[in-house]
Amino acid sequence: MGKNTSPQRRTLMRVAGAGAVACGAALLLPRACSSASYPQGSALAIEFGDLPQGKLRTVEWRGFPVWILRRSGAEIEALASREDGLVDPDSRASAQPSGCRNRHRSLRPDIFVAIGLCTHQGCTPTLASTGGFLCPCHSSRYDLAGRVFKTGPATANLVIPAYRLEAADRLVLGQDG
Ligand code: FES
Repeated sequence: MGKNTSPQRRTLMRVAGAGAVACGAALLLPRACSSASYPQGSALAIEFGDLPQGKLRTVEWRGFPVWILRRSGAEIEALASREDGLVDPDSRASAQPSGCRNRHRSLRPDIFVAIGLCTHQGCTPTLASTGGFLCPCHSSRYDLAGRVFKTGPATANLVIPAYRLEAADRLVLGQDG
């Protein structure tokens, strides 16, 4: 990885690398594993009707840990309150489908879907009791929309994969909505 590679590019290469493990043969990497973009392809339907508020569900998709979190109304409102401390509050330099480039970084405000890998060096952040996500490796912090705070070494928001909402309680990973 070159010294001049941008932080966002490095982030995506790391995420792509993590996905490549499960993609099998490197020569057959599908598009999402080799492009500087958000992951797409290999559709996987997920039911989330039984997911309670505040409970983080992780599913494996193409070798990525994908998070699904149902946020409360108060948590959605709180996303506007600490944007001064964020690196990229409008997700201009972060990877997500166009439909998720909004404050809540999701197609539906209450349902958050993200790749659960820190954009610094790929550790797995945890859902913090204070709200948001904390990476245990070097203390990068993200809000509940996966937007990274300036206080840690990570410089890009969590990556949002392609997904679409198929029904009130069902989404399909890998396909744009
Ligand atoms: Fe998350 Fe370094 S890997 S802060």
